[in-house]
Amino acid sequence: MESKLSVNHLLGIKDLNASDIELIFTTADNFKEVINRPIKKVPSLRDITISNLFFESSTRTRLSFELAEKRLSADVINFSASGSSVSKGETLIDTVNNILAMKVDMVVMRHPNPGAAVFLSKHIKARIVNAGDGTNEHPTQALLDAYSIREKFGKVKGKKVVIVGDIMHSRVALSNIFCLQKLGAEIMVCGPTTLMPKYISQLGVKVEHNLKKALEWCDIANMLRIQLERQDIRYFPSLREYIMLYGVNKQLLDSLSKRITIMHPGPINRGVEITSDVADSAQSIILEQVENGVAVRMAVLYLLAGAKN
Ligand code: CP
Repeated sequence: MESKLSVNHLLGIKDLNASDIELIFTTADNFKEVINRPIKKVPSLRDITISNLFFESSTRTRLSFELAEKRLSADVINFSASGSSVSKGETLIDTVNNILAMKVDMVVMRHPNPGAAVFLSKHIKARIVNAGDGTNEHPTQALLDAYSIREKFGKVKGKKVVIVGDIMHSRVALSNIFCLQKLGAEIMVCGPTTLMPKYISQLGVKVEHNLKKALEWCDIANMLRIQLERQDIRYFPSLREYIMLYGVNKQLLDSLSKRITIMHPGPINRGVEITSDVADSAQSIILEQVENGVAVRMAVLYLLAGAKN
């Protein structure tokens, strides 16, 4: 197996090959063992400074990256757009170059604009990790999702995964599709026609609009949040109707002919895409996903820090 990634930045899963993903997973296996020790820290990135730039809200990704960096002994500086000089008109490149002038080696960035991470990688001299760029990609979420499937089932290849909900506005859906395909899973998307992107048939996934049929088909259902903040028009008549057609409750889960696994990238809208008794059930691996996020992000940062130009 390769010992180095084929990329210098993590901008999207689209740029990775299956060997890169396997390398991230085997590296994450080692770090998962580390973070379950009484002393959870290793000196791997002791001389590295990492800046976390968050131009959009985040709980899981921001905290998980910060913890991953600290577990690797990196120096960490955090930036959020609110309260910064971005509100005074400073551009993205000026903001980042000023941060880099303080001798920063790596940048983790979440930004509302698709392509922001790619743009940055072309204009600044630092490793870039995309922590979510608008509706484009969320590569570390897809990696931790696939890693959690591998942990639960022993492999990803051949597993049937349905991604349910707002596919059109979801960077998690796109990155998951790329990642799971590279690892040999079968993928279905399920949701209302209005929330399916026009290019969906070109992605090589099955499309199903009937939730019960989709759940009967799958081993794993990855439930997405309706991204009201990215919707400029109404894509379905009412939230009540959406819940009736695309929400998973315990009664529906128990009516299936097999026991499926429930995933969710968070944040959950309890009572919309899933009810609390589903989110908190023994079939849910939502908190395992969050736990695995730290080990997977440690692996990504560690491998990118060692990448050659
Ligand atoms: N899954 C995810 O990206 O969550 P946050 O928006 O809280 O980071």
